[in-house]
Parts: sequence; C-alpha cells; structure tokens
Amino acid sequence: MRIVVIGGTGRIGSKVVHQLNEHGHDVVAAAPSTGVNTVTGEGLADVLSGADAVVDVTNSPTFEEVAAQEFFNASTRNLLAAEAQAGVSHHVALSVVGTEQLARESGYFKAKLAQEKLISEGPVPYTIVRATQFFEFLGTIADSATVDGQVRLPDALIQPMATTDVAEAVAIAAVNQPVNGIAEVGGPEQFRLPDLIRTALTAHGDHREVVVDPTARYWGVDIDEHTLVPGDGASLFDIRFEDWILETAATS
Ligand SMILES: NC(=O)c1ccc[n+]([C@@H]2O[C@H](COP(=O)([O-])OP(=O)(O)OC[C@H]3O[C@@H](n4cnc5c(N)ncnc54)[C@H](OP(=O)(O)O)[C@@H]3O)[C@@H](O)[C@H]2O)c1
Repeated sequence: MRIVVIGGTGRIGSKVVHQLNEHGHDVVAAAPSTGVNTVTGEGLADVLSGADAVVDVTNSPTFEEVAAQEFFNASTRNLLAAEAQAGVSHHVALSVVGTEQLARESGYFKAKLAQEKLISEGPVPYTIVRATQFFEFLGTIADSATVDGQVRLPDALIQPMATTDVAEAVAIAAVNQPVNGIAEVGGPEQFRLPDLIRTALTAHGDHREVVVDPTARYWGVDIDEHTLVPGDGASLFDIRFEDWILETAATS
C-alpha cells in the first residue's frame, strides 16, 4: 500500500513510518521539513497523489487553546479536502482516550474533539485511534501538576503505553479497513496516577514529593477514576512500564 504519514518526522510518526516500511509498504513521511504543510496546504496535493491511506499524527505547536484549535481546525480541514480530491480511501488519526471528558475543561482537548468531529463528519472513510498517555509523557504530567515543588495529583487510574506500541496500533489501523469510528488502545497495566508518577520521577533521580490530593486537577481538568483508562473492548499492547524504564535507562 502507498501510505502517507502526515507528521511522519515526529515522535509517533517516525515510528509509524519505520513499522510500515518494515512491512514492505510504500511509505512517505510528510511534514513541513519535507515540504508538506497541512495548515497552509503547501505540498499536500502532490504528496497525496496515488495514496491509499493517510495517517495524521501531527500535533499543535503548543497546548494553548486558541493555537491548538486553529492548528487542528485548519490542518484537518485542508487534509480531508485534499484526500477527497486525491481519492484517498482511508484517513487514520491519533487521538487520546478520555477526550470527551478532558475536553470539558481543557482547550487542547476541545481542539482534539473538534478534530475528531471534522473527521467523523468528513468525506473520507476513517479510523480514529485513541491512545492512552505515552510513557515519555509522564514527566510532563509531573511538571504540570507541580505546585511549590510538590507534585499534587488525584488518585485516578492510568494505563499508559510505549510509543512503540502506539505506533504499532496506528500502523495496524492504516493497513486495515476503516472502522468509521473510534478504536481505543492502551498499555498492559493499570496504575494509580500518583504511584506511577512517583516511580517515574524516582527512576530519573527526581526527588520531588508526590502527594495524593483529591482536589488536584489533571491538566486543569477535574477527572474521575476512569477518565484516563480505555473502555472494555480496547486493544491492549504488551510493553510494560517497568521494562521500558529499564531499557530507557540502559540506552541513555
Ligand atoms: N502525549 C500523549 O501522551 C498522547 C497520547 C495519545 C495521543 N497523543 C496524540 O499524538 C499525536 C502525535 O503526537 P507526537 O508527540 O508524536 O507529536 P510530535 O512529536 O510533536 O510530532 C508532530 C509532527 O507533526 C508535524 N507537524 C507540525 N505542524 C505541521 C504542519 N503544519 N503540517 C504538517 N505536519 C506538521 C511535525 O513536523 P516538524 O517536526 O517538521 O515540526 C511532526 O512531524 C498528537 O496529535 C497527540 O494529540 C498524545
């Protein structure tokens, strides 16, 4: 298959490109640095010519509400229109487990939910892959929850996954038929968010105290126990957090 990965130079995109190449597909990594810009439309028509499927793993340059909304709105509209013009038969996009609930109070997730809506109401058959938090993202969660040197988090569940597994989930979706709906994916284990963040910080020699605080928010959002975990029927992938931590330490 000829598959164009928009955002194919990014954290997830570069791994999706690698995995699809390994399986013998004709893969193009597209990004501003390769002359393809979904916000301006530059290079889109050319790169999509002859494509069977398009994977969208772009991200907004910032988490700020207006910037994220402008990015995902323009990028998704331009991409879907160009795909329809080129006769692309499958649009795959990466989103986040819990997006509806997170969107109630987070501008970034409002933008992701609007992206999903454009796709589901758009002209191209689609699969939206909703993944849980990446292991690599846990430090960012800790930073966002730090108040006066303490990391304050609600006692919610979390079921994070390795970016290698996220990329595999996206690559599998791209070679399968469109589901015209949402496919949830997650890691193999559930943790209590404060326990996991404490372990992640300790593994990096970061001695910030992690405090369970029922009033604390996650990225400014009042989450419940299950907001960050995938529902029944999700596909769960194999890489365990402990193995990932050990491997990351060994290779860094
Ligand atoms: N963080 C998490 O835990 C989590 C969990 C689930 C899902 N997700 C989702 O995963 C997706 C990908 O995240 P990531 O961390 O892999 O992102 P990333 O590393 O920041 O990569 C973003 C990619 O998008 C490209 N890009 C940016 N602006 C573009 C434009 N105007 N036109 C075309 N390409 C553009 C970038 O190209 P350049 O390198 O040239 O700028 C880069 O290749 C996001 O949509 C996010 O919502 C994240």
